[in-house]
Amino acid sequence: MQVIVINSQKGGSAKTMLAKHLSVEAERAGDGPVFLIDTDPQGSLTAWHAKRESETPQRVDLPFDGIERGLGLLRQHGAAYCLIDTASGRVEVAQELFRIADFVVFPVQASEDDLTAAPVTVQSLKEAGVPFLFVLTRVKANTLITAQAAAVLSRHGQVAETFVGDRTAYKSPYPKGQTITEAEPRGPAAKEMSALWENIKSCLHESISLGRGQN
Ligand SMILES: Nc1ncnc2c1ncn2[C@@H]1O[C@H](COP(=O)(O)OP(=O)(O)O)[C@@H](O)[C@H]1O
Ligand SMILES: [Mg+2]
Repeated sequence: MQVIVINSQKGGSAKTMLAKHLSVEAERAGDGPVFLIDTDPQGSLTAWHAKRESETPQRVDLPFDGIERGLGLLRQHGAAYCLIDTASGRVEVAQELFRIADFVVFPVQASEDDLTAAPVTVQSLKEAGVPFLFVLTRVKANTLITAQAAAVLSRHGQVAETFVGDRTAYKSPYPKGQTITEAEPRGPAAKEMSALWENIKSCLHESISLGRGQN
């Protein structure tokens, strides 16, 4: 089982959005069973998951100090991936999670504020020696700031080839807790999430073959 933590210290960078859409995409791609853990006290991921009719991805409720033991149980139950959503601004908690992660997805908006905040998380990731991938989120097509952000971030680590577009569909509710990618499986959001999941998997597998902490 691979444990993927989704973290950035900046609020609103799309951590929860990616936890939802990537977990759904991983199941769709046949890479499950996928489990979700929501470590954010705000509980947005949990609230979304409660609305779902689909049985996958599954979510497990674990107290923070029970996560390591819980991950052991998930492994025994044949889980393939566990995606952990995190809160912003809780550096110590994030550092604990980086210790148990196989990989970290680090969403960043192409904005001055997000770029300024990024080095704090990068520092923690490098201290933990965990491989990570920047994902540019809420990207508006053909903007200079997107290219600048990719260039700045690439000095600190790898940037996912797939940029996540700013799409109303990602924040809109769909019946039965579906994501847009389930509601419109041939639409642009579905193609984007599928490409991003492939980017993440190849980066993760590359880091496994190199040994943890090569990013
Ligand atoms: N690519 C996107 N396009 C449009 N809206 C987005 C996108 N990504 C996230 N959002 C919206 O932006 C807000 C913040 O995203 P969220 O995932 O909650 O951030 P975080 O969990 O990092 O605080 C939410 O309302 C979410 O639906
Ligand atoms: Mg969130």
